[in-house]
Amino acid sequence: LNYNVNRERSHILQVLFNGLRRLEYRGYDSAGIAIDDSSPSSSSSSSSSQCNSNSNFTPSPPLVFRQEGNIESLVKSVYQEVGEIELNLGESFCTHAGIAHTRWATHGEPAPRNSHPQTSGPGNEFLVVHNGVITNYEVLKETLLRHGFNFESETDTEVIPKLAKFVYDKANEAAVGQVVTFSQVVLEVMRHLEGAYALIFKSLHYPNELIACKRGSPLLLGVKELTENKENGSAFEDNKFLSKDGRPRELFLSSDANAVVEHTKKVLVIEDGEVVHLKDGGVSILKFENDKGENGASLSRTSSVRRALSVLEMEVEQINKGHYEHYMQKEIHEQPESLTTTMRGRLIHRGSSKSKSVLLGGLKDHLKTIRRSRRIVFIGCGTSYNAALAARPILEELSGIPVTMEIASDLLDREGPIYREDTAVFVSQSGETADTLLALEYALDNGALCVGITNTVGSAIARNTHCGVHINAGAEIGVASTKAYTSQIVVMVMLALAIGGDTISNQTRREAIIDGLFDLPNKVREVLKLDQVMKELAKLLIAEQSLLVFGRGYNYATALEGALKVKEVALMHSEGILAGEMKHGPLALVDENLPIVVIATRDACFSKQQSVIQQLHARKGRLIVMCSKGDAATVCPNEYCRVIEVPEDVDCLQPVINVVPLQLLAYHLTVLRGFNVDQPRNLAKSVTTQ
Ligand code: G6P
Repeated sequence: LNYNVNRERSHILQVLFNGLRRLEYRGYDSAGIAIDDSSPSSSSSSSSSQCNSNSNFTPSPPLVFRQEGNIESLVKSVYQEVGEIELNLGESFCTHAGIAHTRWATHGEPAPRNSHPQTSGPGNEFLVVHNGVITNYEVLKETLLRHGFNFESETDTEVIPKLAKFVYDKANEAAVGQVVTFSQVVLEVMRHLEGAYALIFKSLHYPNELIACKRGSPLLLGVKELTENKENGSAFEDNKFLSKDGRPRELFLSSDANAVVEHTKKVLVIEDGEVVHLKDGGVSILKFENDKGENGASLSRTSSVRRALSVLEMEVEQINKGHYEHYMQKEIHEQPESLTTTMRGRLIHRGSSKSKSVLLGGLKDHLKTIRRSRRIVFIGCGTSYNAALAARPILEELSGIPVTMEIASDLLDREGPIYREDTAVFVSQSGETADTLLALEYALDNGALCVGITNTVGSAIARNTHCGVHINAGAEIGVASTKAYTSQIVVMVMLALAIGGDTISNQTRREAIIDGLFDLPNKVREVLKLDQVMKELAKLLIAEQSLLVFGRGYNYATALEGALKVKEVALMHSEGILAGEMKHGPLALVDENLPIVVIATRDACFSKQQSVIQQLHARKGRLIVMCSKGDAATVCPNEYCRVIEVPEDVDCLQPVINVVPLQLLAYHLTVLRGFNVDQPRNLAKSVTTQ
């Protein structure tokens, strides 16, 4: 933050805390911040401001606060314990570089010592916040231990600031009288790191500077001019922001646009190997490449980078809860609108039935290649995998191409075959899930055509695939995915229509689906009216230990996704079961106590699901049947079960309708059971580590 203009004193803390609040959905087991200390008593040069280039100026060690628990625990502890620091900020700084982090534990339990910033040791000479995992940290730690470093945490991250101090000390010994720059230190550190990371470094030795770098984990830079007439001008479009001209501005580094959008929409998505250096309100970017030379020796190159800023399309309102109590609730209820946005401009309907078609701009140059594929492979994790599973039958039907499903981690574990003739479709809400990204690298190495389906413009999957479709569902903050799921299905149904093409034989079917898509938001609006019904059902199920969900065909995915929602937010064991497999195991669980949801809406599997209901009833199963409107008496003639009636739709769109009551059920169960809906225990929205 550049303080050439007069800012209120607590601004730096507020910016950092608000940023953390915006990122809390990415991790929420502990948090920390580091800011400069301008306290007169702790500085040997109390009258100097830290923007003063006076060489006699001796900075004080940065202040570090770390706290287990959520962001508010950190905020409370900072204000309670050292409230007076607030009073010293603003006046004595013209530039202030602060860093903050909210954590989702990978190495080491949630505890202050394992929270970030991690430090080089007493004096906080180097501080680091990190997203990702350093895979060679054990080797680095051994070396640093041998050089006398003491470790206090169980994190992989701690090796980074300690390595920075080691490098800094060595460089200063070697270059007596010469200035070792912050970039030189960080570049040397990067040379030794393996794994995935987005890092921000802060240092006692470089008080007005921050350095960020990344490999594999997301990172972006936001740029906000503080002078009014520059805000909308072209100052940045010609890359002038790269010069250190001292103009007042705020610069933001974040792993997620959510933390930046309320300050500025002008961003630069940082790419792998780039090192961003913020100094006195200026930015410079270096590209770092570390290759193996011919003789196997490590070869590092750096070059300077200049790129134009891009403009975020998201709005601040999207990341607020509005009048809802929880993000998950808001996101469930905004599905009619998110689906409309997903389809906007992509369905063409020119009056007569013959001119109904689908236009997916991001794919149009690759459709021919996709149609020639030997196979289409869907790859994703969690809810994204389930969405792909829901779309698989229609893609197979319309394209005639075999479609296989891969959970990203499993594909990597098996090193399953991927061929040049394959089209690999990567489905990911965040576009940053580590397993999906690694599977993408794997598929690219194997020569497949790679298609991305993501909700995040500029994400790694969007950037690194050959082509793709953005689902445009708007920001999803609730950790349990809801609106992204339904928008993903809709995009993949449109993908099936686009790949299937306009043949005479599938014309009627295609038109029925397109008509269904046009009407889908209305149907979802209708099914959302079941909110109260699902709340009542949740009250009945509140104390249950377990819930089974049976589905098949198009709604096997709905069973998996409904059960996943209940499991992840309501913390109740729940399993989605392929009804065709019922007799091969799950039937053993059935008794008069275990609640079972059976999805039996109208489609080609309807009669088979009717007999599943009969068989479950014969074993005294406690049934909750989801059926099409008007079918209650048909599916449950003896009133032995509870019924959820939903609007009927074209078979391939029915999963979009059917999942909504299950989302509502999971939501209400969670609230009634007293758990955190938006931040379920142990989970994170986007898992950027393996
Ligand atoms: C995490 C989230 C899930 C999500 C999955 C895949 O596990 O908690 O909600 O479905 O990651 O995320 P992606 O961003 O790749 O869709």
